[in-house]
Amino acid sequence: MIYEKIKSRRTIRKYARKDVPEEVLLKCVDAARLSPSGANRQPLKYVIVNDQKLLKEVFSTLSWAGYLPDYKPSEEEMPRAYIVILLDKSLRKNPGHDAGIAAMSVSIVAYDEGLGSCILGSVDREKLRKVLNVPDGLDIVLVVALGYPVENPVVDKMKDGDIKYWLDENGVLHVPKRKLKDIVKWNGY
Ligand SMILES: Cc1cc2nc3c(=O)[nH]c(=O)nc-3n(C[C@H](O)[C@H](O)[C@H](O)COP(=O)(O)O)c2cc1C
Repeated sequence: MIYEKIKSRRTIRKYARKDVPEEVLLKCVDAARLSPSGANRQPLKYVIVNDQKLLKEVFSTLSWAGYLPDYKPSEEEMPRAYIVILLDKSLRKNPGHDAGIAAMSVSIVAYDEGLGSCILGSVDREKLRKVLNVPDGLDIVLVVALGYPVENPVVDKMKDGDIKYWLDENGVLHVPKRKLKDIVKWNGY
C-alpha cells in the first residue's frame, strides 16, 4: 500500500557497492515525468549520472546531514547514481513546487524498487554545472542520490520540539517527526 511505503521510506545516505540498473533509473525519471506540474507546464529536465568518474565529481558538490557533520557516506558508501533535477527556464521562470514533487516521485519509486535515496538541496550548483556541462538556460534545482541501502534509519517521536536527527549507540539514525495531532486542525485554525 502506498501509505505503508511513504511511512517506512527514510532518507538513506549510505549505499552498497552495487550498481543500480539503468532501467530502474529511467523508471524513476518516468515517474517524475508523469507527476503533477503547475499549469501542466512541465518545466523540468533530468540528468541521470551513473558514470564512475562523474559519480565522484558529483559527490564532491554535495553536503550531507547538516545536523551530524561526521555522518556522511565514506568513499565505499557513496551513491551509485544521481538524478539531477533541472529547471528549463524557457518553459518557466521558477520551479514552483514541481521539483519537490518530482523528487518525491523519484524517491518513492526508487524505494519501491529496493533502493534508498536522499534528496539534496545543499548543492554547490556552480561546481555541479561545470561537472555536468549544464547550459545557462537550465537551473539546477535538486539532486536525488540513489543506491542500495546499507543503513536502516528509524522514525522517532519528537521530544521538546527538537527536529534534529540523531545517532544512537548502535549507529542507527533516528528521525524525529512531529505528532499528527500537533500539525492538523479540522475546519479552520
Ligand atoms: C528539499 C529537501 C532538501 C534536502 N537536502 C538535503 C541535503 O542537502 N543533504 C542531506 O543530507 N539531506 C537533505 N535532505 C533530506 C532531509 O534531511 C530528510 O528528508 C529529513 O531529515 C527527514 O528524514 P526522512 O527523509 O528520513 O524522513 C533534504 C530533503 C528535502 C525534502
